Order: sequence, then C-alpha cells, then structure tokens
Amino acid sequence: MKISVIWTWYVWLIQAVWLAKIGYEINAIDIFEDKIEKLKSWVPTIFENGLEDLLKETLSNINFTTDKSCVVWSDIIFLCVWTPQDETWKTDLTYIKQAANDLKQILKWDEIVVIKSTVPAWTNKMIYELLWEKNPVVSNPEFLREWLAIEDFFAPDRIVLGFKTWESEENILKVLEVYKYFSEKNINVLKTNWQTAELIKYAANSFLATKITFINEIARLADKIWADIKDVSSWLGLDSRIWEKFLNAWIGYGWSCFPKDVKSLVHQFGENGLEWWIIKKVDEVNESQVNYFLEKITAKYSKDLHWKTIALFWVAFKPDTDDLRESRALILVKELLKMWATIKVFDYNSQALENFEKYSYSLSTWIRNFIPIVISKSFLDMTKNADFLVMTLEDKKVLAEDFSKVKENLKEKVIFDGKNILDKKEIKNMWFEYYWVGY
Ligand code: UDX
Repeated sequence: MKISVIWTWYVWLIQAVWLAKIGYEINAIDIFEDKIEKLKSWVPTIFENGLEDLLKETLSNINFTTDKSCVVWSDIIFLCVWTPQDETWKTDLTYIKQAANDLKQILKWDEIVVIKSTVPAWTNKMIYELLWEKNPVVSNPEFLREWLAIEDFFAPDRIVLGFKTWESEENILKVLEVYKYFSEKNINVLKTNWQTAELIKYAANSFLATKITFINEIARLADKIWADIKDVSSWLGLDSRIWEKFLNAWIGYGWSCFPKDVKSLVHQFGENGLEWWIIKKVDEVNESQVNYFLEKITAKYSKDLHWKTIALFWVAFKPDTDDLRESRALILVKELLKMWATIKVFDYNSQALENFEKYSYSLSTWIRNFIPIVISKSFLDMTKNADFLVMTLEDKKVLAEDFSKVKENLKEKVIFDGKNILDKKEIKNMWFEYYWVGY
C-alpha cells in the first residue's frame, strides 16, 4: 500500500515516519523546500524524542518532496494541515480547504483522503463535497503530545476512525489495513461516523484542560486554608474513577492544543445555538491562573519591580520542546516587564532560548531599549546577581541543580515555583522563602 502525508509539520511528521517504520512506502509532502531538504538529510525539523534515529531508520521508505502531484499513486492520503483559530474562536479552515482544492485537481477517484487535522463537526463532510464527492474521506484525529509523539504513536490509547455512514466495506477495510499493526496489538480501533470522530478529539482535549483547570481552582482554596495541594492531587488521583494524570495544579496550560481546542469547542456550541457553561469558564480560569501566580510575586514586591532582576527559568510551554506558543512564561515575562523588572532567562533547550530571543525582539522597542532581557548560559549563571528566582517548568532535570549555589547567587533567597517542582520541605530547610501554586 502506498501512502502520502501532506504537510510534515510538528506531530504529523511522526505520522509519516512511523508509517514508514511499519513498512509502508510514504510520500511526505510539504510546501517548504528548506524543510524537505533538511529531512532528506536526516535533520529533524521539530523537537521530538528519538526522531533523528527514526528518520535514519526509515528514510529509504520515505520520499520527502514538495511535489504534490505524487499523491496520485497513493492508496491513502493523510491530510495533516494546520487549523488555527480566528479572533472569534472559529476554527480557520482556509488551509485545509486550500489543500483539498489542490488535491481536487490531482486526484483520480479511488484515493482515500484521511483527515488528521483537528476540525469542527461536519468539516469532513465539507471536504468530501469539495472533492466532488468522488474520493472517500475519513476522519482520523491524532492524540499525540509534543516531544512524546513517537511514544504516543507507537502505543496509542485508541485509534478513532470516522466514515460517512454509507462508506463501502472495501474502503473501510483499506483504512483498517493501515492500522493493522495496532489492532493486532489489541489497541482499540473505533469505527464511527464523521461527526463523532470529530467531536471525540475536541472532547478529549477539553476534558483534560478541564481537569487541569479544576485542580488549579482547588489550589486557590488550598492556598487560603493551608491544605497541601500536592497531597490533594495525589490522593484524588488514587481514586480509579478520577485517575492521577493531569491533576497537577500549576500556572495553567499552554500550547499545543488545549487553548485552541477549548476555544473552538466554545464556538461550536454557539454555532449550534447552545449555551456553554463549563468549557467557556475553563478558558477564562486558565487565562487567570498565570495572574494568580503573578499576584504571589506582586503581593511580596508590589507592582514596582524597577530595581529588581528576576531569574526566570524556562520559556517553552513544557519541557523538552522549543515551542513557545501560548507558553505561560511568555505571559509572565510581558507582565513583569510592564512592572519594569529586568529579566534573566535560561532554558535547557538552546533552541527554545533562541526562539525566545527572537520573540523578545517582537516586543515593543521601548521595552527592548530600556529594560534588558538577558539570556543566560546556565541555570546557575541565570541566578547570579538576580534578586529572586521564578520557575515555570516541570522538568525534573532542575532537581539536579545545586540549590546551595543558587542561594549564594540570589540577592534575596526567594523562589516562586509555578510548577511545584521543588520539594517544599527541603527547600524551606535551606532557608529559602518559597512560594508555589496551592499551599
Ligand atoms: C496535548 C494533548 O495531551 C494531546 O493528546 C493532544 O492531541 C495535543 O495536546 P501537549 O499540548 O503536547 O498535548 O502536552 P501535554 O503534556 O498534554 O500538556 C499540555 C499543557 O498542560 C502544558 O502546558 C502542561 O504544562 C499543562 N499541564 C499538564 C498542567 O498544567 N497540568 C497537568 O497536570 C498536566
């Protein structure tokens, strides 16, 4: 079976590489020449654990190209196109429509088009109609986490496939054949209709976002009544109906998908004439969570941070990625700069730091000219001569840092930990003044 994957951006590249590993011949198509050239030379274009090795292993099965016309020899075409939000929270389908329009000119009639993009209800139907109703269209949402996408692809919790209700058995079997590797490993493969598959993706991400937001809200009460939020989370999680994952009270979720999928779901409620209650609040509470954390800083230092230098640890939205999109750290940086603080930044991921430097140039020139942002070489270097430390990262690597040196370096022995990563008792025993989310 010959497969094409259109767009090799972020987790969709993993789709191409993994299918090649399973043994399929893959055309991986992108519009950017430079990206394709890099991939041809085994250079990963995204940060993903194990991607370089996987590229080397599978390159003989993948044809990286910018030539869309090669899809014509494919049995299955995975359409993996970016679906961002517009300012009204409506999912912007411009790119996916454009890709479908391009395909329309090229396709014969029997190639199956599988939509991996996260799209609102009825989009698969719309694409089917756009393709003159001649090619089968299948909804197949992805649930891959950034950095862990290879691991997730290899061991998914489930595979969801949405077909049109009158899809032929032959076409259904063809798509199931692609995922035979997984069904043989007893991974559940759901066959359903288009809109069910589309909704499962939004419901999954919005539910996880809700779970995080719920515990973030509980953390605010924990702060007031001196209840240990880490204990609350872990003992809640022991209830098998609740489950321990995504119960960490931190500074709110960032990219990759939660903010945009929650917003899109709110929009879909409105479009269908429904009131929304929980989901809209999830977005609002999440947006306020970073301010809740910021208030801990301003409660101690007031809003005038004129002569303060802050060591800010971590800028990406989560560990092991260079992705800054909707990172809570960026929101924090903007707010701290407004209060005239000087900021020293460090991130273990040098690419994330480079991206941050580029981002800082997008800030208004008066900020760049008057308030320096210093990019540090190491964690300890960042803390040197800083007044206090703000942490926005849940990466356990930081636990190996020498906090006795941090104590020597910081002018004031104060830490604000937005990811509750440090051991409260240990750090307090070292005579740090320690603030975190939830008491
Ligand atoms: C997410 C989904 O997990 C994945 O299934 C989906 O398809 C894409 O979006 P990703 O955004 O890569 O994946 O990372 P994830 O590990 O899910 O974390 C998302 C955000 O939630 C991060 O900002 C993280 O810090 C935050 N988070 C996570 C919490 O605030 N608390 C938690 O307990 C867990």
